[in-house]
Amino acid sequence: MLQKFDERNKDLHIWVGDRLYHRDEAKVSVFDSVVQGGDAVWEGLRIYPEGVMMLDRHLNRMYESAKALAFTHIPPTTFIKDALRQTLEANRMDRDTHVRVTLTRGSKITSGMDPRLNQSGSTLIILPEWKPPVYDNDHGIKVITSTIRRNNPAFLDSKIHHNNLLNNIQAKIQANVAGVDAALMLDKDAFAAELNGTNIFMAKGDRVYTPYATACLHGMTRGLIIELCQLHGIHIEERNLSLTELYNADELFCSGTMGELTPITELDGRLIENRNGKKVMKKLISYFEKAIPEYCTRL
Ligand SMILES: Cc1ncc(COP(=O)(O)O)c(C=O)c1O
Repeated sequence: MLQKFDERNKDLHIWVGDRLYHRDEAKVSVFDSVVQGGDAVWEGLRIYPEGVMMLDRHLNRMYESAKALAFTHIPPTTFIKDALRQTLEANRMDRDTHVRVTLTRGSKITSGMDPRLNQSGSTLIILPEWKPPVYDNDHGIKVITSTIRRNNPAFLDSKIHHNNLLNNIQAKIQANVAGVDAALMLDKDAFAAELNGTNIFMAKGDRVYTPYATACLHGMTRGLIIELCQLHGIHIEERNLSLTELYNADELFCSGTMGELTPITELDGRLIENRNGKKVMKKLISYFEKAIPEYCTRL
């Protein structure tokens, strides 16, 4: 699945630093930390008519990621919310919108890795785009297992939502070469971690399983699915999941802000067959859709 240019995005207004710019003018310095070392953290937000989905949770994850990376200047939440409101208003966006919020460590006085070279505060980028959920959620996606492993805290903690995405990008290249939609990344012990840009769940009978959040991003959508299972009395368990278990799942699906809940129809050429006929994923999709207004915040 290759995303296409959406004509509605040709005149975007994008926030960089402390104001809005037309998309042709929206730029960061070549001395910015994100250029120098991928030294930035980010969040993907989705806008629904009822507001911004799980806004405070996303901003909290961004704060915690920036704090873990010892950013010395993290803008107050009120500033970020106000910038987001101005950005959405300038673009007249109130639905079908994905917003990439990035906070870089800021511009450096000279090139180099040392954070002490950052002496003018962080750079906030708010990039909104018309972007309905990116996957064909009716037909689902095909996936292969990547040879590239997902980081765990021994190397780079997956709980930091950072811009060093090269291992995920390499996994996505393998999916492209294989002619499928996404790549499953394993952890250091060869248990499933997550797809290159989404979290993974499996249903076996009426039980739902998802990997521990040790080598996957602790996705906001993942967290909500866990809560919805608990709320509706569906057995949900975080545990190690091997490829054999995934191949033999009754249902497999992935979750993320970009695409919401998406069925996985094939993994490494094995069709995912629903041999017991229970439709747990369908129930969760409907609980998720009903929950959206409650989890949205108006700016
Ligand atoms: C690697 C990775 N996994 C999972 C997700 C899904 O997380 P969320 O549900 O917070 O969008 C993302 C989204 O940014 C991601 O980059």
